[in-house]
Amino acid sequence: MISVAIDGPAGAGKSTLARRLAAEMGYIYVDTGAMYRAIGLYALRAGKDPKDNEAVNALLPEISLRLDSVDGEQHIYLNGEDVSRLIRTDEVGMAASAVGANPAVRAFLLDQQRDMTRTQNVLMDGRDIGTVVLPDATVKIFLTATPEARATRRWKEYQEKGVDISFEKVLEDVKQRDYQDTHREAAPLKQADDAVLLDTSELNFEQSLDAMKQIIASKV
Ligand code: DC
Repeated sequence: MISVAIDGPAGAGKSTLARRLAAEMGYIYVDTGAMYRAIGLYALRAGKDPKDNEAVNALLPEISLRLDSVDGEQHIYLNGEDVSRLIRTDEVGMAASAVGANPAVRAFLLDQQRDMTRTQNVLMDGRDIGTVVLPDATVKIFLTATPEARATRRWKEYQEKGVDISFEKVLEDVKQRDYQDTHREAAPLKQADDAVLLDTSELNFEQSLDAMKQIIASKV
């Protein structure tokens, strides 16, 4: 089975690019961030602080996650409820980043993530896919962009949705999430030694997509 690992910081375009690539290649797309987000959502709903490892660990036995493709779109089910949309808020993103620093949460998700690669070709994106989850992935790409470039993209998305938020606030959030994701002890965000670095700061979507296709074609 072929596996493509795509890691990088929040806002580098991983999921949009990975989703499109997976569709074109006929691979299953696995968005591991959605799994952390679903656990973050569960903790928030339970009234627990996502940073409180003990409190979150006590919730894990109650949590069952399932990823499924519906009309080519990946959906995530939390105890049977489709939470695909509900998890896409900044609050849940921050909660996901917090539960992602919890080793028990990472262990809880590791086997589920590895199992998905046993019987199908996958394209998996996250923070630790090339380093921890799939150290033997066929292709590893580390996708990044400057904090300013990532904040600009995110701010434009907000503008399009009519969300009133300053660029400075978006940039601050991007930097805070980078800090949390790179400074945690459990599987911090870092480039695997054998990953190909792709900086998309100066590239548009199509150019980034082409660059990724070239990297994949050189390895598969
Ligand atoms: O990719 P995303 O923004 O949906 O991820 C949300 C958070 O989940 C991210 O800030 C850190 C955590 N995460 C992680 O720790 N490991 C992964 N493989 C994917 C996400």
